[in-house]
Formats: sequence, C-alpha cells, structure tokens
Amino acid sequence: MSTTPAKTVLITGATAGIGRETALHLARAGYHVIATGRRASELDKLRAETPPGTRLDTALLDVTDPASIAAAVAEVDRLTSGRGVDALVNNAGFGLIGPLTEISDADLRRQYDTNVFGVMAVTRAFVPRMRERGAGRVVNISSMGGKITFPFMGAYNSTKYALESLSDALRYELRAFGIDVVLVEPGAIHTNFAETSMAPVNQYQDTVYGAAISRAKQLERRMMATAVGPNVVARAIHKAIKRRRPAARYVAPWYGSLVFALLAITPTRVVDALIRRIAFLSPKALRKPEQLTGTQARAASV
Ligand SMILES: NC(=O)c1ccc[n+]([C@@H]2O[C@H](COP(=O)([O-])OP(=O)(O)OC[C@H]3O[C@@H](n4cnc5c(N)ncnc54)[C@H](OP(=O)(O)O)[C@@H]3O)[C@@H](O)[C@H]2O)c1
Repeated sequence: MSTTPAKTVLITGATAGIGRETALHLARAGYHVIATGRRASELDKLRAETPPGTRLDTALLDVTDPASIAAAVAEVDRLTSGRGVDALVNNAGFGLIGPLTEISDADLRRQYDTNVFGVMAVTRAFVPRMRERGAGRVVNISSMGGKITFPFMGAYNSTKYALESLSDALRYELRAFGIDVVLVEPGAIHTNFAETSMAPVNQYQDTVYGAAISRAKQLERRMMATAVGPNVVARAIHKAIKRRRPAARYVAPWYGSLVFALLAITPTRVVDALIRRIAFLSPKALRKPEQLTGTQARAASV
C-alpha cells in the first residue's frame, strides 16, 4: 500500500523560542521538518529531543548570509530529492529596543538585515521549487508590533510593518502559482526575545531618555507577565500551514485581535497621550540637554 509522503516544512531560527517549539510541534503532527539555524550545537540538541517515529532534519542557515542560504537550498534539494519544501516558515528575527534618534545606523541596518532582507532572501531561494510544482505556502512570522508602534520599539516595529506589506504583495503575486502567503502575528510570548531586545538599552541611560528607559524596563517586565508560551504560536503556524484556504493573518493568541479592534475605534490623539504617559515621555520626565554632563551633552549634540 502506498502512503502519501509527509509534507516538508522548513523553519528558520529553529534553535530557540517559537521556531524550536514549532519544529517539535510539526514533527509530532507528522510533517517532515527541516529545522534550520545558526547554531549547530542547538540543532543537535533539537534532533536529540525529536520523538521516535517522527522526521526532523536540520541544516545550518544564517538568513543574513547568501552563502549559507545557498548551502541550505542544496541541502534541502538533497533531503527532498530535488522536490523542495511544501511550506517555508520565516521565523528568524530579533528585537532591538532604544530611542530612534540614539540607535546607530549600523544597529538599524542589522535589524533590517535579519527581519526584512533575510526573510526576502530566504523566500527568493525557496519559492522557485514551489512555483515549479504549482503549490506551496510561505508563513511569515510578523508581530502584533507589525501593526502597533511602541516608543523605543520603532526600529523593530518598522521591520515588522515592512514584513506585513511585503507579505501582502507576495500574497497577490504568488497566488496564481498556487502559493499562499500567510502572516502570523504573535503578541507577548515567553522566549529569549525580550532579553535579546532589552540587552542594549543601558547604553541609553545617560541620554535625555534616561528616566523613560528605566520605565521601559519596568513596562517590559509588566508586559511579559501577560505573555503566553511559544506553543500558542506553534499552533497558529500549524493552522496557517494545514488550512486549505488559510486566512491572510493569524493573531496569536487570538484575543490580541481585540486590541487591534479597540485601537481602530480610538482616536490617535487619545492613544498617543496614553502611551506617552505610560512610557514616561512627558516633558517633565525627559531630561533637558543642559541637564546632561559635558560628555553626555557632546554625545547628544552629535
Ligand atoms: N517572543 C515574542 O514576544 C515575539 C512577539 C512577536 C513576534 N515575535 C517574532 O517571533 C520570531 C521568533 O522569535 P522568538 O520569540 O522565538 O525569539 P528567540 O527565542 O530569541 O528566537 C529567535 C530565533 O531567531 C534566530 N535568528 C536570529 N537571527 C538569525 C539569523 N541571522 N539567521 C538565522 N536565525 C536567526 C535565533 O537564532 P540564535 O539561536 O542563533 O540566536 C533564534 O533561533 C521573531 O521573528 C520575532 O520577531 C516574537
């Protein structure tokens, strides 16, 4: 008796958090998973954790490195006998928190290299086989922050806004080839994300935003108190892959969409005032340039 081969799903950034959880979830659900990432040791651990009877292969893939992407394509061709993947999950990404006028050009570019250009480079690499077969699915992991901007998260939020728009365009452009493009928009999720995002904030402590930066740390802790596990996003990604006619967007957890609905009917002025207040961005809370020490003031005026 012949059996239908399992659908093959490639996941980027599967060495931690949502990507790792999704790799295990989809392997348990019967998919052939190709879990990719930058750290070989973490990929080895993931393979070791894979339940017996499931199929999970791994491949090195740094989404910002063209040579690494080319090597991953060759490895996928080998693993799938040239068929390619049925679904691509563009999950690799990171956050960078800081006041926009203080974030360096190099850091801003690093954000875009991974969260925007990395997604596009990987998509361009794996879509051709889908197009040849006339079927496929691209699932892009955006964020609720791809529709809402928070103070000090502008660098990260803007990459996800870009991803939302790119995904909309890809959805139009690829549908005629049998390829669906789906966005998954997580809210606050317990992973390494918050720690990575907050890591550089102390360097802004001595700027005019000092008090607001301290406040941002408290706010981040408060927000993470409402966070859910990465399994919630893994289930949304699974839905985005298995539905015959997927929605264009899935918010995870689903009740995050209530926030979008509330914001849509609240005047921007009201939202702005509330956010500035919560984030300590009133004129009183901000340090005046003349209150900075000599070195800080010189740095601030550059
Ligand atoms: N957690 C949240 O609250 C949240 C909310 C909304 C959206 N998201 C989105 O969810 C996705 C996954 O984040 P997460 O929460 O799971 O964070 P995480 O635990 O920090 O995991 C991020 C993953 O991305 C990988 N990665 C980063 N840069 C990469 C690169 N250049 N090439 C390949 N892999 C790379 C990391 O690899 P290393 O292990 O090598 O660092 C890691 O595997 C991101 O796109 C993020 O923006 C997260």
